[in-house]
Amino acid sequence: MRRIAWWLVLVGLAACSDEKNLVPLDWELNRMTQQARYTDFKPGPGFRDGRVLQPPPAGTVPVDRVIGPTTLTLGITDAGDYVDTFPIPITTELIELGRNRFERTCAACHGILGTSETEVASKMTLRPPPSLQKASIRGNPVGRIYQVTTFGYGLMPGYAIQLNLEERWAVVAYVRALQLSQNARLTQLPPDLRQRFRSEVP
Ligand code: HEC
Repeated sequence: MRRIAWWLVLVGLAACSDEKNLVPLDWELNRMTQQARYTDFKPGPGFRDGRVLQPPPAGTVPVDRVIGPTTLTLGITDAGDYVDTFPIPITTELIELGRNRFERTCAACHGILGTSETEVASKMTLRPPPSLQKASIRGNPVGRIYQVTTFGYGLMPGYAIQLNLEERWAVVAYVRALQLSQNARLTQLPPDLRQRFRSEVP
């Protein structure tokens, strides 16, 4: 019994001295932003070249970079020609995504129908955006439209930052759908739509 009592006293003392050693934190003075640290682009002793910020090792790839065939990433073949067929499957969902991104990203200049009859275009005196319904642009391979969307063309900026790879191909697919919508022949419509057109359009 006595032994246990001594033991308890010792444990109690240890707990007291531990508390005494604690340095109270002043959350104003000890914020991480105010603590001693090395800063980017400043010298630092941690590495042999004395720099804090180390260049990434050769061949480092950003985590979000899509790696794959150039037909998919650049819209060109190994021989350097624009691809003329889509490198990803075209689904209704993809075209819907394309519609959303086109209307959000491109339509301010090129218009909802791609005719480029817009307020913005009318104010562009230098070189207004061309109609995407123009025969020459309709004749462009999809790889070219993808390149324009990704890297820009002349006065038009690229949209690789705003749209990821899938969204850019979706926009190209939607541009094709828009072009078809304004240039389709009646005989190209499915029979039920052809019927509806005949009954509704005088
Ligand atoms: C800020 C206005 C603006 C926006 C937004 C814009 N464009 Fe353009 N676009 C232009 C202009 C201006 C040109 C003509 C550039 C030139 O000739 O220098 C052009 C040209 C083009 C061409 C023709 C290029 C060729 O090969 O001749 C295509 C295709 C095109 N745009 C597609 C798009 C798509 C797709 C988007 C959306 C991702 C988009 N544009 C967004 C202004 C815009």
